[in-house]
Amino acid sequence: MYLINGKEVTKEEFQIPVEDLVIWRGDGIFEAIAIHQGFLFALEEHIERFKKSAQKMHFDNIDFDKIEKDLVRVASNYDSGYMRVIIGRGASKEESKVYMFYQDLIPVPDYYSLQSHKAHWMSGGDFQIDEVSNIAAKSTSYAMNMSHTRLAEKEGFTDSLLLNKDNIVLEGPSFSVAWIKAGKVFIPDLDLGILDSVTRRSLIEIGDNYDIDVSIERISIEDLYEVDSVFVLSTAKHARFVNKIDNKEYSEDKLLPVIRNYFKEQVEREKSRKLSN
Ligand SMILES: Cc1ncc(COP(=O)(O)O)c(C=O)c1O
Repeated sequence: MYLINGKEVTKEEFQIPVEDLVIWRGDGIFEAIAIHQGFLFALEEHIERFKKSAQKMHFDNIDFDKIEKDLVRVASNYDSGYMRVIIGRGASKEESKVYMFYQDLIPVPDYYSLQSHKAHWMSGGDFQIDEVSNIAAKSTSYAMNMSHTRLAEKEGFTDSLLLNKDNIVLEGPSFSVAWIKAGKVFIPDLDLGILDSVTRRSLIEIGDNYDIDVSIERISIEDLYEVDSVFVLSTAKHARFVNKIDNKEYSEDKLLPVIRNYFKEQVEREKSRKLSN
């Protein structure tokens, strides 16, 4: 299904004009939410982040209640896949539009190999997160991120792992990362300017709900080569194993399948909580 400003349109009508600033300036924001048997997982968190992105990128007067209702309505028709929603600035500043569509499940690899690259455009901890208002906005300006995915692919890796200027691990171009050392799980801190990933938040919740130690840590790529396991996290990738970073190969820690299972349980728990309300 395809919606523009809440109105259902055909696939042919679902078009963003080239004149829209979202196309030629990347002046837009977006969200992607997973559907589990008609249910949108972590919808409130996604809407909260969408509102934050709107504020950071100066999209005023957006009706998020309407967006939320449309998302729920459309998603209820599907068993699996994703809802994607983009707000584009429009051809002129006063014409922003909401584009919403359903997308089938994307096949993701069982495991990832990553090539580390410096990410010059990311704040990387050089600025306090509140010092610059648009740090970590989920904007549609993803060309820098994607260029590193393409570079990694060219070099025979699945994707890229972005680092700050001091070799501190940030995130992937379209996913968060976490690592395991001696049975404990670690994630990078948000002050590095990484996206406030909903899946990373879920991992923190898993730590609270189950007997898993999840801590925040800044780690250099050199130290990451020494950990037991690394995994990637996103709406489409719940704890996928990283088998290789640069020349370093990893084996899968026994905790990783356990975490993956907890992610499934968490979806079920949220779903039954929502249905009983
Ligand atoms: C740069 C970046 N980091 C992390 C993530 C993971 O975020 P989430 O768990 O909310 O999907 C994404 C997802 O698109 C991303 O683009």
